[in-house]
Amino acid sequence: MNQPIARLRRLRSVELRTHARSASTDFYSEVWGLRVVDQGDDAAWLRGTGDQHHVLQLTAAERNGLGRISFAISTPAEIDEAARRLDARGIPMIQGPGAVDDAGGGYGLRLVDPEGRIVELIADTLAVPDLGRGDAVPVGVTHVVLNTVDIDAAVSFYCDVLGMRVSDWSEHQMAFLRCNSDHHSIAFNQAQWASVNHIAYEMPTVDHFMRGIGRLRHHGILPLWGPGKHGPGDNTFSYFADPAGLVCEYTSGIAQVDEDRWLCRVWRRVPELSDLWGTAGPPSKQVRDHMAGIPDPGAFELHDLERVS
Ligand SMILES: [Fe+2]
Repeated sequence: MNQPIARLRRLRSVELRTHARSASTDFYSEVWGLRVVDQGDDAAWLRGTGDQHHVLQLTAAERNGLGRISFAISTPAEIDEAARRLDARGIPMIQGPGAVDDAGGGYGLRLVDPEGRIVELIADTLAVPDLGRGDAVPVGVTHVVLNTVDIDAAVSFYCDVLGMRVSDWSEHQMAFLRCNSDHHSIAFNQAQWASVNHIAYEMPTVDHFMRGIGRLRHHGILPLWGPGKHGPGDNTFSYFADPAGLVCEYTSGIAQVDEDRWLCRVWRRVPELSDLWGTAGPPSKQVRDHMAGIPDPGAFELHDLERVS
């Protein structure tokens, strides 16, 4: 049995391709609570209050999609070992291992998952000071939910190759995967096509979470769904649409997994388990449409397009 290629320490950042780069940069920095740390013609990098240089990269594109998901790895030596193990498994890499030239620096590699998503493993990124937990703004990105056409294949790749563990299932519709004590850093949702379902941002407490929702309300922006509290993961949720129609979530209080005692369970998809508080009601067609997004062609098609253009 092959070992996983590396030990993922945590979800570090997400890159979104967006057709509304400028408006979305304004939204995430002026309303959502992130701060712009770097900006170019086609991209912006934004941070939370936590210790990561950036947690979100917005890249201008004709169509919305996932740019990449970045996981923090402890050392460059582990990145090099991951590259050797990827080679041995015949899994495609599109960059590295080597120094990363993007904002935030680091030493990393980029691999491609079975549905064409780019996954980055990165170590030695630039340090920034932690900004404290006073304001009702995100600490960072805490999870990404991805739509997949084959949930079993997706779960198998992320567990077998990337060493993630399944924390819970929501019937055979969603799988919640962890790489550390957080109940999930990634979740997959069985769907008609591969796409980003939503990106979740961590608020330090329920009080910060509610004050964040209040700030958006003050800007005339109401939740698409929420506030409520999920059964799997026990986290609060409130979902919004950004200016490009991509879904972002405020969340707090994710369950912490004790690796020695945790048992994966299967949650039934009933209203009282989807929302433990009973405050959110069922998800509307509008929120489900936003979460489905549009089919994402993935890395190979994008790189093919870049080669011909
Ligand atoms: Fe979520």
